[in-house]
Amino acid sequence: MDTLEQRDLTETLEHFWHPVCAVGDLGGAEPLAVKLLERELVVARLADGSLTALDDRCAHRSTRLSVGTVDGCELRCAYHGWTWAGNGHCTSIPSLPDGPIPATARIRSYDITEEHELIWVRLRAPARGTLEAPIPHSSAHDASLHTIIGEPYTWPVSALRRVENFVDLAHFAWVHDGSLGRRDNPVPPLPEITCVGPELRFVYEPPEFEPDDSAMYGRSKYRMGMPCNVDIEFTLASGARRVLWMTASPVDETTCRVFWAMARDDDLDEAGRTDRDAEHIAFQRLVLSEDEPVVGAQTPGHFPLDPAEEVSVSTDLVSNVYRRWVREMVRVHRDSDTTRTVEVAS
Ligand code: FES
Ligand SMILES: [Fe+2]
Repeated sequence: MDTLEQRDLTETLEHFWHPVCAVGDLGGAEPLAVKLLERELVVARLADGSLTALDDRCAHRSTRLSVGTVDGCELRCAYHGWTWAGNGHCTSIPSLPDGPIPATARIRSYDITEEHELIWVRLRAPARGTLEAPIPHSSAHDASLHTIIGEPYTWPVSALRRVENFVDLAHFAWVHDGSLGRRDNPVPPLPEITCVGPELRFVYEPPEFEPDDSAMYGRSKYRMGMPCNVDIEFTLASGARRVLWMTASPVDETTCRVFWAMARDDDLDEAGRTDRDAEHIAFQRLVLSEDEPVVGAQTPGHFPLDPAEEVSVSTDLVSNVYRRWVREMVRVHRDSDTTRTVEVAS
């Protein structure tokens, strides 16, 4: 079996869209510094409403553009005032008003867009012959539901480990004993997993359990968007519909920033008011506080690409399929193989 390196995974992830901040974080006079896949970027919304993502390093004397300002439809460097268009081309040099502007005065720019109230960046276009994955679907951003945008958080593990924890069926009874399961009922039913384009999908019927009113619990439709997104639609025993959605953005090999949202069509008063939001947010915080100590303690924090690195059993089904899917995705991208697409099922 050929060996896959962390570098292969990082380069593969560069071909996908990842969120870097909330839409509301941009729009003022200050550009924003973000980090994606080890790369320091500056992102901003310019005066004409367009978005820009550039390397966060001025091509003149290398200070960060993120300490500069948004000046109309350009970014202005704080050091000598050079201005940079959204495509990374230098447009003016205050100390050299008559030019010429050197042809090398360019900063690398990246694809940037907005969706689901987040700003998404893609570092590289899809490689030839590989599956193009769009920005992942969200069932939580649905006008028929009441949506709450969660506070983003940063954890010291690979984005893919964070995803794996989110879909780990055997951990519910153990880590979430009393909140999403019970230790005296630790065997999860195993779903059938299918691969549909850039998604893994399965339906999970959780064990009998009486959760808190604010819990997401019941028949669960999972859609895992390649490579770091999870969308779960729950049908509660009452028939209510709730959604939990998350995307783990790969900051570096062992750090992720998680953006998430939840939605529901129940537990609203007759006027559609949302007085109970605080309880729903508190319940998700409780779940996160149960996960964080074990997920943050995974050592190493990087995502294992060699199946022999860790021991797996049949009840790790979703993780096992996800790992095969990721390995295949990395192989296809690394080899830019024009004859294969990523197909994995349980
Ligand atoms: S370092 Fe940016 S203008 Fe000189
Ligand atoms: Fe968990």
